[in-house]
Amino acid sequence: MLFLLLPLLTALFPGGDSGFEEPVSFHVMQTSSFHNHSWVHLSSGWLGKLQTHRWNSSSGTIIYLYPWSRGNFSNKELMDVERLFQLYFNEHQDFYISQLMFQDPFDLQVTVGCELHSGKGFLGFKQVAIQGYDFMRFQNETFLPSPKGGEKAQKACKLLNFNEAYTQRLHRLLSDTCPHFTLGLLEAGKAHLQRQVKPKAWLSSGPSPGPGRLLLVCHVSGFYPKPMWVMWMRGEEEQLGTQRGDILPNADGTWYLQATLDVAAGEAAGLACRVKHSSLGGQDLVLYWGGKTPQSALGWILFAVIVALALLTVLCIHLFCSSLLPNGFPLFF
Ligand SMILES: *[C@@H]1O[C@H](CO)[C@@H](O)[C@H](O)[C@H]1NC(C)=O
Ligand SMILES: *[C@@H]1O[C@H](CO)[C@@H](O)[C@H](O)[C@H]1NC(C)=O
Ligand SMILES: *[C@@H]1O[C@H](CO)[C@@H](O)[C@H](O)[C@H]1NC(C)=O
Ligand SMILES: *[C@@H]1O[C@H](CO)[C@@H](O)[C@H](O)[C@H]1NC(C)=O
Repeated sequence: MLFLLLPLLTALFPGGDSGFEEPVSFHVMQTSSFHNHSWVHLSSGWLGKLQTHRWNSSSGTIIYLYPWSRGNFSNKELMDVERLFQLYFNEHQDFYISQLMFQDPFDLQVTVGCELHSGKGFLGFKQVAIQGYDFMRFQNETFLPSPKGGEKAQKACKLLNFNEAYTQRLHRLLSDTCPHFTLGLLEAGKAHLQRQVKPKAWLSSGPSPGPGRLLLVCHVSGFYPKPMWVMWMRGEEEQLGTQRGDILPNADGTWYLQATLDVAAGEAAGLACRVKHSSLGGQDLVLYWGGKTPQSALGWILFAVIVALALLTVLCIHLFCSSLLPNGFPLFF
């Protein structure tokens, strides 16, 4: 059934050149702590690496971070999901503290969702870690204990697997509801996910790598989507010593990248940082070290200066200088 949805995905994002940059997935991350006899639950929803939802634990409701975060689900469907989360959080005390007898203080991390694997369709997953260690995972309608989880993990899986109504409901949620929601979300958020935001670029020098050497830094920021090409160049020649940093997220959902080059101080002149990005439509950004203008621009400036000088001379002769010259003085211009 879900295989029927895959052509839709291709129609939404033809050629895989979607601008949607991560593997297609939706997951909910939960961190819960039980400290001083009370629970704090934090929870968020993620479409790939983009956060789309948050959980308001004081009201037990979903916060939609974008107008399209509801995907194509109706209010009733969303309220059903909300109620499911409320019930789920209410059961923590009984399950972890009363039945498994975890002691205060106690930290829990859960990731649950579905991911598209080409050829296999969407696969659901749920992973639970406790005090930072893998505890158990849900796979193919069954909870499996992690070796690090010890006896408590085995007991937890036994209890959960015994409750077939629960494992079947979870399986349906992950392998049916989640993929439908994800595809609806991708469609509703298409304009946002396929947007193109141009980078800004600037140069600076980094900490000196050694005596007589310079570290040239090219900063590129504020671009979307993530794929980005940046290189230090001398003319048309790529400088293979260019070191690319990691692509880091900005708070507004755009990306940041820097590219550095370690050069002898005398060789920095004439180097430029070149930036190619889908938002620039083939018009690469080129920034020259030391503000040096490119050869062709220098040529134009020289040409402009010569033309201006020639015009001035002509003006001077006709409007001004000629009056200073004795009458009949031969003009050779
Ligand atoms: C723990 O809770 C008790 C009663 O609710 C409170 O008086 C105490 O200050 C709390 N301790 C800490 C460390 O939060
Ligand atoms: C969370 O719910 C509470 C209680 O209903 C409300 O006062 C608060 O504004 C909500 N927070 C957010 C961020 O929506
Ligand atoms: C999933 O479980 C079913 C029966 O519970 C089994 O027939 C199937 O082979 C399992 N699939 C995988 C991938 O483990
Ligand atoms: C939402 O969209 C997906 C993909 O287009 C579709 O499979 C699903 O049936 C839709 N759900 C609703 C509630 O309309």
